[in-house]
Amino acid sequence: MKTTHIICIASHKGGVGKTTSAATLGSLLSSSGKKTLLVDLDAQRNLTSTFIGARNKPGRTLYEAFCEGKDIPVFAIRENLDIVPSSLDMGALDTVIASRIQRESILARLLRPVAESYDFILLDCPSQMGIITVNAFTAATSLVVPISCDAYAAEGLLQLLDMSEIVKSGINPDLELTGIIITRFHTRRTLDQMVEADLRERYGKIVFDTRIRENATIVQAPIVSLDIVSYSPKSNGAMDYTALSAELLDRLGKPKPWEQRYQ
Ligand SMILES: Nc1ncnc2c1ncn2[C@@H]1O[C@H](COP(=O)(O)OP(=O)(O)OP(=O)(O)O)[C@@H](O)[C@H]1O
Ligand SMILES: [Mg+2]
Repeated sequence: MKTTHIICIASHKGGVGKTTSAATLGSLLSSSGKKTLLVDLDAQRNLTSTFIGARNKPGRTLYEAFCEGKDIPVFAIRENLDIVPSSLDMGALDTVIASRIQRESILARLLRPVAESYDFILLDCPSQMGIITVNAFTAATSLVVPISCDAYAAEGLLQLLDMSEIVKSGINPDLELTGIIITRFHTRRTLDQMVEADLRERYGKIVFDTRIRENATIVQAPIVSLDIVSYSPKSNGAMDYTALSAELLDRLGKPKPWEQRYQ
């Protein structure tokens, strides 16, 4: 049977590079011939805008799929790359499905009919640790956590990892913590070096070797509905994510001796 890696990109903080990581890794994986599906779970729909533009509103929505059990809407972006777009009403989903039975496994059920068609499915989570993020943990085989370097970077991280452990021990034993990405790294700033040293001390090999540097070009790319690799392949952002993608592929499917380390 084919293995589909379902990678949940989640963080306890906003603005740390979840969407940028999903868009860029998705672009790189698809360009290397891996059939990849991006799923935008955030009502802000930034991932959707990156690829299909802010005004291009698809007919069927992910919200309807969650609420009414309809098929998830899948749109082709380019060869090997598809997207399930988000919609603004996803912001109301927590309340709407709050009393549903098995509400944490709706996404897993929705993805089941399409999962086998893909090598990778990347789930871009909202920054709230609500029912949508729990759905992503329940559907995923792999968890990747971006963290940007500020003084409170690690605050809340343990809670996020604990939440993933609860999901793993309860409903989704397939969920593995694949790694923490240090994002938006300012090479010359002492604060960033201190935060990196602290994260590596506390979490050891869980932290990817590759750091994603702060790079002004990354911010420009979504404005023209592109990911950074397509927009500026020689930028630091594209190069860092290329290295991260190789490290990610290397890690997936291997035993993870660091799994117990942070407890
Ligand atoms: N390495 C980087 N260098 C410079 N800017 C970056 C970098 N990574 C992300 N950004 C910018 O920071 C902002 C937030 O990034 P992004 O949307 O990827 O974060 P997020 O974690 O998905 O945020 P949210 O929690 O709001 O969904 C965006 O404007 C993005 O272009
Ligand atoms: Mg985002």
